[in-house]
Amino acid sequence: MSERKRGRDADVTKARVPQFRMGAMAEGSRFYVTTPIFYVNDVPHIGHAYTEVAADVLARWHRQSGDDTWLLTGTDEHGQKILRTATANGATPQEWADRLVESAWKPLLSTINIANDDFIRTTEPRHENNVQRFLTTLYDKGFIYTGEYEGAYCVGCEEYKQAADLIAGTGDDEGQQVCAIHSKPVEILHEKNYFFRMSDFTQPLLDLYEANPDFIQPESARNEVVAFVRQGLEDLSISRSTFDWGIKLPWDDTHVVYVWFDALLNYITAIGYGDDQATFDRRWPALHIVGKDILRFHAVIWPAMLLAAGLPVPAGIFGHGWLLVGGEKMSKSKLTGIAPNEITDTFGSDAFRYYFTSAITFGQDGSFSWEDLSARYESELANGFGNLASRSLAMITRYFDGQVPTEGAVTPADAAIHDVVAAAVSQADDAISRVAVHEAVASVWTIVDALNGYITEQEPWALAKDPANADRLSTVLYTCAEGLRALAVLLSPVMPESTQKLWVALGAEAALGELTAQPVRSAGTWGQLPAGTQVGALEPLFPRIESAE
Ligand code: ME8
Ligand code: MG
Repeated sequence: MSERKRGRDADVTKARVPQFRMGAMAEGSRFYVTTPIFYVNDVPHIGHAYTEVAADVLARWHRQSGDDTWLLTGTDEHGQKILRTATANGATPQEWADRLVESAWKPLLSTINIANDDFIRTTEPRHENNVQRFLTTLYDKGFIYTGEYEGAYCVGCEEYKQAADLIAGTGDDEGQQVCAIHSKPVEILHEKNYFFRMSDFTQPLLDLYEANPDFIQPESARNEVVAFVRQGLEDLSISRSTFDWGIKLPWDDTHVVYVWFDALLNYITAIGYGDDQATFDRRWPALHIVGKDILRFHAVIWPAMLLAAGLPVPAGIFGHGWLLVGGEKMSKSKLTGIAPNEITDTFGSDAFRYYFTSAITFGQDGSFSWEDLSARYESELANGFGNLASRSLAMITRYFDGQVPTEGAVTPADAAIHDVVAAAVSQADDAISRVAVHEAVASVWTIVDALNGYITEQEPWALAKDPANADRLSTVLYTCAEGLRALAVLLSPVMPESTQKLWVALGAEAALGELTAQPVRSAGTWGQLPAGTQVGALEPLFPRIESAE
């Protein structure tokens, strides 16, 4: 390999890592969260939607807590995989990308109600120009050299594979080595390319992981990455000359940059890297939410790139699990993908968002099934939350002419509800700070369960039969209304539509202002909904589904 250039090592040893727990920030601080940018070779399935929803729930929670929040998503449009798909469909890669972005990837965001702040495409000038700027920086610092490489390439992964990443093929691929993720044969490539001196970063990365135990989450993901880097990193081939669908190297236009090197940079080109330093400083660093299939790119290559350029590393990387079908990763290439609108057309986007954030432990694999979705829709959403809301409002309408009654003397049963609400808020906020989305939803759900139990015990319909119990009835129904107030605020990041309907029906919009302006971290303060607030009608939040099968 070629001679080494000057001045590399001085920059790389001092990793600049923010010293907060992943995502845990005080009121009024910053939160920048990203999803992967998805390949436009095909349309989205519920695996992509899953990542989007998790990131959106985190972003909405932080935004509603007053943090300076930014949610970025987008599409990855260069590389051989896109080029091949476009060609096979008789389109240029740019035409193909435009078509898929407009007809499938952007519409996905409204299907599942994602409130992203930006959408970046890697074919935009703001990205391409600043990828070149970044490459020039690395070149000038001596981190890039020419060399030769031969290896087994998986176009599905857009990655050179090591022996450990390959398995023996079966069926048509008997006798060949196939990619363990895509189950497709790898291609042996021999190329003269430009290389990034990633091997220089083995120790700086290990130091980074050691000094920041939360940098990679969950624990299983961290362990896998640390074990991988401990074996020592190889230099990385970062250019291709056998096709031209990519960003040209600034110093050699016969090569395009390796698609992953290009794609990872979206996280900084989208926030002004190279063009707008003030915005870059305001947003960076990010918390990256990714599937575990692309954990190493984010936890190894990406921080090494940033260290080489002298930029701060990410705030953290969370590698979530896979949605499985028949025990295997749901995927476009294996034709096991379920389109998100197959679910939302029947159950709605709120149920989609609730299901995937509550039924699967974030960080572990989970199997999707229509039976489980239907069962949880009915028991947790329709009978649990929806019914709590509709019967509470119906009783306030019937017994108090639709005016939220006054809270009288507080009994231990009422005080227990206040405590459940207060505890739910702090537990959920703590869970969000640990990126434990499922735990946050479970904490909030303790309020639903506690209020349903409270109504069963207090029997407001029985209290209503005797005027001597009027004060008690008043307190019980105040407790229900105020509990629903807290629930609407806390569930708004997960179920923006149904909580908005509830908010309006509770009269809270008139009394307290917009739902999304209610700070989540103070949602546990009891007594915010004023007595006398006029409640309105509420259609069922989660209507019965006529036989889902
Ligand atoms: O990898 N379960 O894009 P991609 C859960 N362009 N999540 C899944 C999933 C499943 N079965 N299938 C896909 C790429 N995902 C690159 C990323 S980032 C700089 C470049 C989700 O279209 C999950 O987030 O193959 C996974 O990491 C991602 O989609 C891969 O999307
Ligand atoms: Mg993929």
